[in-house]
Amino acid sequence: MKKIHFSLLKASIILTLSGINSCQIAVSQKSSLDRKVDSLLSIMTLEEKIGQTNLYNGNSEMTGPSPQGDNKNKAENIKNGLVGGMLNVFSAEETQRAQTLAVENSRLGIPLIFGYDVIHGYQTMFPIPLAQAASWDIEVAKIGSQVAAREAAAAGLHWTFAPMIDISRDARWGRIMESPGEDPYLASIMAKGWVEGFQGEDLASLETIAACAKHFAAYGYAEAGREYNTVDISMQTLYNVVLPPFQAANDAGAATFMNAFNILNGIPATGSSFLQRELLKENWGFDGFVVSDWASIPEMIFHGSAIDTSHAAELAIKAGSDMDMQGMVYEKKLKQKIEEGLVDVQLLDDAVRRILKIKYRLGLFDDPYRYSDKEKEKAELLSKKNLDLSREAAKKTFVLLKNKENILPLEKNLHSIAVIGQLANSKDVPLGSWRAQAITNSAVSVLEGIESAVPKTKVVYAQGYTLTKGDRSFTQELTIVEGDKSGFDEAIRLSKRSDLVVLVLGEDCFQSGEGRSQTDIALKGNQIDLIKKINEVNKNIVVVLMTGRPVPLTEVSENSKAILQTWFAGSEAGNAIADVLFGDFSPAGKLPVSFPYHGGQEPLYYCRKSTGRQFNRENNVFWSHYTDGPNDALYPFGYGLTYTTFEYSNLDIAKTNKGVSIDVDITNTGERAGTEVVQLYIRDVAASLARPIKELKGFQKKKIDKGKTLTIEFNLTIEDLSFYNTEGEKVYEPGEFEIMVGPDSKSVLSKKVTLE
Ligand code: NOJ
Repeated sequence: MKKIHFSLLKASIILTLSGINSCQIAVSQKSSLDRKVDSLLSIMTLEEKIGQTNLYNGNSEMTGPSPQGDNKNKAENIKNGLVGGMLNVFSAEETQRAQTLAVENSRLGIPLIFGYDVIHGYQTMFPIPLAQAASWDIEVAKIGSQVAAREAAAAGLHWTFAPMIDISRDARWGRIMESPGEDPYLASIMAKGWVEGFQGEDLASLETIAACAKHFAAYGYAEAGREYNTVDISMQTLYNVVLPPFQAANDAGAATFMNAFNILNGIPATGSSFLQRELLKENWGFDGFVVSDWASIPEMIFHGSAIDTSHAAELAIKAGSDMDMQGMVYEKKLKQKIEEGLVDVQLLDDAVRRILKIKYRLGLFDDPYRYSDKEKEKAELLSKKNLDLSREAAKKTFVLLKNKENILPLEKNLHSIAVIGQLANSKDVPLGSWRAQAITNSAVSVLEGIESAVPKTKVVYAQGYTLTKGDRSFTQELTIVEGDKSGFDEAIRLSKRSDLVVLVLGEDCFQSGEGRSQTDIALKGNQIDLIKKINEVNKNIVVVLMTGRPVPLTEVSENSKAILQTWFAGSEAGNAIADVLFGDFSPAGKLPVSFPYHGGQEPLYYCRKSTGRQFNRENNVFWSHYTDGPNDALYPFGYGLTYTTFEYSNLDIAKTNKGVSIDVDITNTGERAGTEVVQLYIRDVAASLARPIKELKGFQKKKIDKGKTLTIEFNLTIEDLSFYNTEGEKVYEPGEFEIMVGPDSKSVLSKKVTLE
């Protein structure tokens, strides 16, 4: 088969286009920063250099265990210039205090960098990242991270541990909520949006913070969806699925990367030179620094890959982990390793250079206190402007999964609505997991949102099911209640006498997030029993769903007229949900993950390879299937309805000298204007490595007026039609390609083309 190695082609194109002037400018800018860093480095002692690689937890909030115990001399060490940065220290006041220790006391006065998990907001919460991906809108990602950055920067922070861009295809894994979902193309778009939103044009701006692309790499492939578990995947999956979002984050200029807790194909990511040195720093030219994940350096001992802490430190620095987050092994062991000649000091110098460069770019050497501004902090956090932006974003993330008889949007003059469900009255669950400094119970609940949207309607509330009891927190196990039906009678009574039921179902937000894997992803707390009972007394059930992962919805769908997936929508959840329920805004989100019929289908994703046994031709069992359920998703990747309907027609494809051009007509056949995400998929029909049955290669989000037809055009280049081989080379193999366009990954128009 004839192959073209794309990486070579690309390199030559870049060389020709990148003109001398821009190169010269880049070189001279770089060298002025390099000169500053080099001159500082030249006067640093070995201990001070190691200090820069040391990232301490600030104790105010723990986000993991410390296998080496905590360091009791943190303040002293900061004063002695033995610490590079801190995490979990926040607020203008606290960061100022810690910075003073470093700057006013240490010999060289090198400022600390303050990092924190600002994932989907600092205090104003935006929808969780998985929800943001459901917007299929890079602007949502940008605005969400801009607001998060503004608030975090005003609270003295310089650096967020986001975006998390691990492809996640197993809904059992709790951190799927923090990811952009199952598809590398969509994830790459979101990665770019998040990085650009956090960092803006200039890291030194007081409205931006440094981003951190994490977790490098393949953490989302934890075996059996169990948190922190081992990962064993093929090189083609690594190159074609896992790495593209990271490459996009690097291309967008992500200042830092975080490595991962998992073993990848036998080697802990933290100790992997292949990932950190070869791929990231050499091949991709990343010039920021890599931070370890929390104590992931000493965890290599538990992986059975390092003998002791000293060996772990050696493996990690050699592999290119520049900063040790709360592992406390660089501070304890690197000096000896270097003095013994087992670690080359140049490796340390390279790590320190990278860290210092980011501190310079943040403007910390000009004024180490510049981010710690109490007045700004007060004005910025939870400002009306930020809350309004959160409400706007949230509406764009909702996915309408079902709308029988066009029950939605609801009339605003309904006589009575029963709002049912423990989650309906929650002012906390919509804030989501990974919530930084969100104030407990600060979200607008669904009940509040509905009450304020329709003040003239009689809105009654009953809890119905009981999902959780007792204290809930980010760090503690959650108590899920099964079998408490004490709220059923009241819920049924109110449902029976109301025009309509808004039933809020789903998960507590602390059922997903770090450390929250589940063997069973079905809805808990008797929710299914309740919907069946309510359906017996009132057929007008609109389900508002809140989850951080795909959940099986077969029975929910059988017992309701509408389902609106709202994820965990953030501070303004209830208002945004009411905006959509009552038609002030038409939903346009599309699923970034496949929703199964049954949890046993996980990992479930559209972009799969075809088996050799696809069809049940002879009515026997010898084909690829489950005996007790379907193969496909109940709601596939890319799926989502709106308040109008669209028809796809006239798919046309033509060869061009660069690849293929595609156009398709989309007609709004419904009663109102609407927005559609038009999706383009390809299949490389036969290749040297079997390719997936469908791969997303483009999408366009367009508003189309009632009765109008829009012709949408896509262009696919040879690069778009290429894939990575097992050596990581991008190759194009001419031959037959199937080109598909549709409203989701299942219902597509399709044509084939043969390319030379
Ligand atoms: C561990 C998590 O894996 C990582 O994503 C996070 O940034 C750190 N803890 C710090 O909280």
